Amino acid sequence: MFDNWEDLENSIKGCNKCKLNNGRTNIVFGIGNKNADIMFIGEGPGADEDKEGKPFVGKAGKLMDKAFEGLGINRENVYIANIVKCRPPQNRVPEKDEAVACLNYLRNQVILVKPKVIVLLGSTALKNILGEEHSITKERGIFTDKKDIKYLPTWHPAALLRDENKKIDFWKDLKELKKLAEEQNLKI
Ligand code: URA
Ligand code: SF4
Repeated sequence: MFDNWEDLENSIKGCNKCKLNNGRTNIVFGIGNKNADIMFIGEGPGADEDKEGKPFVGKAGKLMDKAFEGLGINRENVYIANIVKCRPPQNRVPEKDEAVACLNYLRNQVILVKPKVIVLLGSTALKNILGEEHSITKERGIFTDKKDIKYLPTWHPAALLRDENKKIDFWKDLKELKKLAEEQNLKI
């Protein structure tokens, strides 16, 4: 574990701890406010993210931005990262060994950001952070407290592109997040 961003970012350069290093163009480390109160965790980079080296810049990211805009959430106030930092081939779900290999980077990011709330975007984020026994279908929209952090699981933005009803849920969940942030004076 590193106690500063520079050492952490340097430590990930050229990482080959898992097989995803073979197919990547860029490592997608994370973006946003390094002192954020609220952190968003996705699954892994897609083609656009791999090309740009930034999380959530493709179609799913644009949809998330739209929701942010509509609800008054400023992307620059929050921190956004993924379970795996390198793009899985054909955007498949990261395999267990890949997530395990990469998770220490994310843990270190969480330690440095010290968020009050973590939004888990989709099943991969939920299962890798809170445990395999968790279910996104059952738990989305429900805040859970664990070791001084509130976790809010919700749909992954890519799922919204396939199912209109999930858009409504996603919007509702982020609205609750916004409400909590206002009540607790969190940067949003
Ligand atoms: N999907 C993710 O989970 N993360 C990204 O950065 C982009 C798409
Ligand atoms: Fe390293 Fe993570 Fe990329 Fe795997 S996904 S090579 S562990 S940075």
